[in-house]
Amino acid sequence: MGKFAEMVPERVRALASYVPGRPIQQAEAEFGVKMIKLGSNENPLGPSPLAMKAMDAAMRGVNLYPDTDMTGLRERLAKLHRVAVNQLIVTAGSTNLLDILARTLLMPGLNAVTSERSFIVYPIVTRSAGAELRQVPTRGDGYDLDAICDAIDSDTRLVYLANPNNPTGTLITAAEMDRFLDRLPDHVVVALDEAYYDYAEWLARERGVEYSHAEQYVREERNVVVLRTFSKAYGLASLRVGYGMGPAELIGYIARLKTAFIVNGLGDAAAMAALDDREHYEKSMRNNSAQLAVLSKHLKEMGYQPVESWANFIYIETGEDASTLARRLQMNGIIVRPLTGSWGARTAIRVSVGTPEENRKFLEALKNVTTGAHAG
Ligand SMILES: Cc1ncc(COP(=O)(O)O)c(C=O)c1O
Repeated sequence: MGKFAEMVPERVRALASYVPGRPIQQAEAEFGVKMIKLGSNENPLGPSPLAMKAMDAAMRGVNLYPDTDMTGLRERLAKLHRVAVNQLIVTAGSTNLLDILARTLLMPGLNAVTSERSFIVYPIVTRSAGAELRQVPTRGDGYDLDAICDAIDSDTRLVYLANPNNPTGTLITAAEMDRFLDRLPDHVVVALDEAYYDYAEWLARERGVEYSHAEQYVREERNVVVLRTFSKAYGLASLRVGYGMGPAELIGYIARLKTAFIVNGLGDAAAMAALDDREHYEKSMRNNSAQLAVLSKHLKEMGYQPVESWANFIYIETGEDASTLARRLQMNGIIVRPLTGSWGARTAIRVSVGTPEENRKFLEALKNVTTGAHAG
């Protein structure tokens, strides 16, 4: 034990660190090959050209502090989603908002509920707020909403639902979510994490499914905070811009815990411009939808049974140790996410949808390195 162990509270000492996707430069240096990164669900087409131009212009103003309230961006987003400006808060990515939300509502003695095999940030933010996280087993590969309801008690304040879920890519339909919210007691808030909203909405339209009533919940001031991000469909992951929409009173409390100036001016400018770039957005959505189908078809031909995805990644049960498989893929120049450790799926990997060429190379590499364990 080091000399600070007695000073640092047990809830902090007990935390497991967030293990991010492998940075591309690190992997290239270790393996000595050019890497394709399909491990963190980023936009493979890059940022929008309009966002890059806006950042270029905004660079000249970085000697000045940004608008800590992100007034312009909030007004823009409020109009887009037809909610009130005071129902919306902009944060440094949605991870930052998850952390603030947990610190706003939780403390020792209270608990939050989510599912196993869901986003690994939920345990971290809950435990760093000193609270307990209850993770109920999945049903199939998705959420078991009945089990989540059953796990709620008088000390529950938060329920985290990633829709679509990361890492399994499964969807809760709008009707299922409506029914779930109707059963929810009044002392509980749902963190409705729609980081992959754009992909899901696009795919749901193609597949004839009704995906989300999230904005309607906000207009009705239900006990729901909807989380969205510019990191995925808008290709701005490195800039750290996300936002939340929810009841005005609760958003007001959340704002008190937000670190001043946490979202920077470049991110503000890029996010605004990215919202204007319909062309880049649609190109990204079309690539995702077409390439999901290609990946899924080839994986099935190879004997895998990928879970139907509503996002920009695919969950694949490989039947072998996922870390070893991921390492072999890295030797072949491909970074994927092994779902070991806190992800809770020792033999599964998650692969992000890339460009047609990246996906071809991934499939080729997978054929080279697989042991065939998945085919039984
Ligand atoms: C379900 C889910 N929520 C939130 C995030 C975090 O996104 P951000 O970059 O906005 O912090 C991710 C990113 O992987 C995610 O998968």
